Amino acid sequence: MRIIAIANQKGGVAKTTTCINLGASLAIHAFRVLIIDMDPQAHSTLGLGFEPNEINKSILNVLEPPRSPFHLELSDIVIPTRTPNLSIAPANIDLAGEEYRLIDKLGREDFLNVGIQKSQLQFDFILIDCPPSLGILTINALKACREVIVTIQPHFFALRGIQEFVETMEMMRENLKHNPDIHVLVTLADVRTNLFREVMDEISKYFREKTFKTIIHKNIALAESSSHGIPVMEYEPESSGAQDYLSLAKEVIELEKEKPEKGLFRTNRL
Ligand SMILES: Nc1ncnc2c1ncn2[C@@H]1O[C@H](COP(=O)(O)OP(=O)(O)OP(=O)(O)O)[C@@H](O)[C@H]1O
Ligand SMILES: [Mg+2]
Repeated sequence: MRIIAIANQKGGVAKTTTCINLGASLAIHAFRVLIIDMDPQAHSTLGLGFEPNEINKSILNVLEPPRSPFHLELSDIVIPTRTPNLSIAPANIDLAGEEYRLIDKLGREDFLNVGIQKSQLQFDFILIDCPPSLGILTINALKACREVIVTIQPHFFALRGIQEFVETMEMMRENLKHNPDIHVLVTLADVRTNLFREVMDEISKYFREKTFKTIIHKNIALAESSSHGIPVMEYEPESSGAQDYLSLAKEVIELEKEKPEKGLFRTNRL
């Protein structure tokens, strides 16, 4: 089972869009996929057609300490989506308070990891949608995963923002002895601009072979499909958005075959 967190503390850089559409693309390849929604905004939950206000068993129950009357196993909260092979562990707004409640709990970084490891669920991929912060919910996701996909929108300050993220990964490696592989996905790309090429050069120099060859172009079908509560490959299969995410899924599948060397991301200052 491959566990991949989709993260970046910056908001609006297509973490959720990637979770949903990479998940659906892997599901089309007949892999069994679970999306875990770790964002109190519950956008993955919404984007897969569920109304968060009607969710009463959520990932929050899994993060509760085992002695709590509200604690549930991950398998108790997973629901299938209308896309075959694709399930979700949903979130709702109640998750927002968890940042504060977990803060003084022993082993607070590890609740999601323990929840996944304890569950007897049979999935090929777990994709974790992170909130736009480096708080305890994101740390739980990073601790639970073996791989991280950082989504980057190619604009002028994109790489500056990523510095803080890389430092968080270093902190995890040193303090929590946990070192997932980082991969970078360029999203929301407008390839016609000079700025795009400049920023791509910079990203490739910094992350080198850790950058996916697939680039996700700007495509309105991606935004529209989320608002209809379905992945883009069901909404508009011929769109560039659908093709880009199917191509990304192929690369993600290939990565497993390559068995990447651990800890290759560079830690030099930007
Ligand atoms: N390739 C794309 N082309 C056009 N619109 C896109 C694309 N990817 C994402 N979007 C749109 O951009 C907005 C932000 O995307 P998304 O919600 O996936 O980002 P996010 O990083 O999950 O945001 P947050 O940090 O708030 O969780 C959404 O309205 C989404 O529909
Ligand atoms: Mg999101």
